[in-house]
Amino acid sequence: MFASLKSIGAYVPSRTLTNSDLEKIVDTSDEWIKQRTGIQNRYIADDDESTSDLAYKAAVAAIERSGIKRDRIDAIICATITPDFFCMPSTACVVADKLGIKNSTAFDISAACSGFVYALSIAKAFIESGMKKNVLIIGAEKLSAIVDYTDRTTCVLFGDGAGAAVISTCEDRNRSILDIHTSSDGAYQDFLITPGGGVQNPCSIDVIEKKMHYLKMKGNETFKLAVNTLTKDVREILKKNSLTSEDIDFFIPHQANFRIIDAVGKKLKFPQEKIVLTVSKYGNTSAASIPMAINDWYENGKLKEGDLMLLDTFGGGLTWGSALVHFNQS
Ligand code: ACO
Repeated sequence: MFASLKSIGAYVPSRTLTNSDLEKIVDTSDEWIKQRTGIQNRYIADDDESTSDLAYKAAVAAIERSGIKRDRIDAIICATITPDFFCMPSTACVVADKLGIKNSTAFDISAACSGFVYALSIAKAFIESGMKKNVLIIGAEKLSAIVDYTDRTTCVLFGDGAGAAVISTCEDRNRSILDIHTSSDGAYQDFLITPGGGVQNPCSIDVIEKKMHYLKMKGNETFKLAVNTLTKDVREILKKNSLTSEDIDFFIPHQANFRIIDAVGKKLKFPQEKIVLTVSKYGNTSAASIPMAINDWYENGKLKEGDLMLLDTFGGGLTWGSALVHFNQS
C-alpha cells in the first residue's frame, strides 16, 4: 500500500498589502523589495479572521476536490507557527470542529516553513503503516499577527494564507508519494525566532515592550544557508531515487525569496517553465507556501494527473526537506 496526494485546495484572504502600502508604513521602497525578494504583494487576514478560519476554507476545497466524505478523514495535521491558541487547543482540533469531523486524530506540528513537507511525511507514514486511510494535511498561517510592522527587515516579506491536501491510500507506486526527506539543525535556532511568549520568556509587559513576541530573522545568514541546503537536499533525493531534473514535471520550492529560488533552480538546471513561482503575489506564507503554490498550478490548469512534483523547503528551526510527489486525483 502506498500514500498519494489526491487533492489540493487553498484560501487567500481578501485584503492586499502591496509594496506601495508598505512604503507608507516603513522606510522601504517598491524597487528594493522587488529587487531583493521578488515580492510585489501579500494578502493579510482580517482582524477577526484566525488561522483556523483560513485553514478551514483551504480544507473544504481540498476535501471537496478529493471526492472523499468528511467522515472518512481519519487524521488532521495542521502545520503552523501561528496557531489560534498558545499551547492548546491545537488549531487542527479547532478546524476539525469547524469541519464537523469527530473522532479523528488531530494535532499541530511546528516546523516553520517546512511544516507542510513535515506533515506530508507523517501522513505518508500513517498511511503506509496501515494506521490511517485518509489524512487531511494543512499549512496555514496568520503571520501578520507575529510580524512587527515597524521592522522593515521582516515586515515586507510575510503574508497570510492557507493550503490543504488530502493524502489517501493508493496501489500504484507510479502515482504515489515516492519519497520524502526531512531534516533539521537546532544549532541555528536563533536565525528565525520569536523570542517572547514561550516558557523561556513568558508573556509580560517587559516582553511586549521589547517586542520579543514578534518574529525576528537573521535574513542574510539564512539566505546563504538556504541556497546551499536546498540544492544539496534536492540532489540527494533525486540521486536516491535514480531520477534527474528531467524526470520532474514541476519544481515547487518554498516561496521565500525569488533570488533563492532562482539560484537553486539554476544550480539544479531546472528550466524556468518547470519552476512554480508565487512569491511575487503572496510573499512568504511559511507552512502555507508550498500547498498554495501547488494549488495555483492546479487552478491554472498546469498540474495534470500523474505529474511528478519535487517539493523543496527551508525554514525556522532550522528545518528543511524535500519530497517527490505524484498528483493522483483519480
Ligand atoms: N527596505 C529597504 N532597505 C532594507 C530593507 C527594506 N525592507 N530591509 C533591509 N534593508 C537594508 C538593510 O538595512 C541593509 O542596509 P545596510 O547595507 O545599510 O546595512 C541592506 O538593505 C541590505 O540588507 P540585507 O539584509 O543584507 O539584504 P538581503 O539582500 O540579504 O535581503 C532578505 C534581505 C530579503 C531578508 C534576504 O536575506 C532573505 O530573503 N533571506 C532569507 C529568508 C528565508 O529564506 N527565510 C527562511 C524561511 S522563513 C520561515 O521559516 C518563517
